[in-house]
Amino acid sequence: MTRGKLITIEGIEGAGKSTALQFIQDYLVKAGVEVVLTREPGGTDVSEAIRKLLLHSTASEGIAPETELLLMFASRAQHISQCIEPTLSAGKWVVSDRYVDASYAYQGGGRGIAMDKISLLDKMIVDGLYPDLTFLLDVPADLGIARAEKRGTQKDRIEQEKTDFFVRVRNVYLERAKADPERIRLIDATLGLGLVQDQVRRILDEFIRKK
Ligand SMILES: Nc1ncnc2c1ncn2[C@@H]1O[C@H](COP(=O)(O)OP(=O)(O)OP(=O)(O)O)[C@@H](O)[C@H]1O
Ligand SMILES: [Mg+2]
Repeated sequence: MTRGKLITIEGIEGAGKSTALQFIQDYLVKAGVEVVLTREPGGTDVSEAIRKLLLHSTASEGIAPETELLLMFASRAQHISQCIEPTLSAGKWVVSDRYVDASYAYQGGGRGIAMDKISLLDKMIVDGLYPDLTFLLDVPADLGIARAEKRGTQKDRIEQEKTDFFVRVRNVYLERAKADPERIRLIDATLGLGLVQDQVRRILDEFIRKK
């Protein structure tokens, strides 16, 4: 059986990832692809339990940056072994709302953890299971925060960070896209929904053609 493809969507809060996820699903289903949608942190029962701890912990002691990093990768290890790998092996495609690039952007850029420490965990846990295609939905920090606020849902532990945190997160995402432009496709997500979807559609057309 032909192995499925792994597509990931990255970007800061409010960039439009979840909106794009639905669009990508509709596109792939129309193209006759069997697709499984998932997210990080999360995607399996155990990974979702870790997500709760990561995003909604009310413990007064806080979560140290290294703890956050290790929990992200613990959640990812489970996600890969229980969901991503078996789904790809079964010939289905996986579309994930965030994946490994987010650890570099958030725990590296945002929290300031050295990139070589993240890269060590990347080698240990992801072990080369990199996305075939990544959409980076790029918006300035202010716009992302404003969109997330307009949505009106309560902010999780990470979403409560200040603008400069998201400026650093965005910068690492952009550096990674520049270093790997074949895989990480930059989307101007400041534009209206229709124009964002046009960019995504063009890239998917090309990706499907080449697959
Ligand atoms: N291109 C766009 N133009 C204007 N508004 C948009 C656009 N894309 C998404 N939105 C709106 O912005 C809000 C945030 O979008 P969405 O929830 O998809 O972002 P997200 O990246 O998934 O955020 P989070 O990281 O918080 O999950 C939603 O209310 C959505 O309807
Ligand atoms: Mg979302």
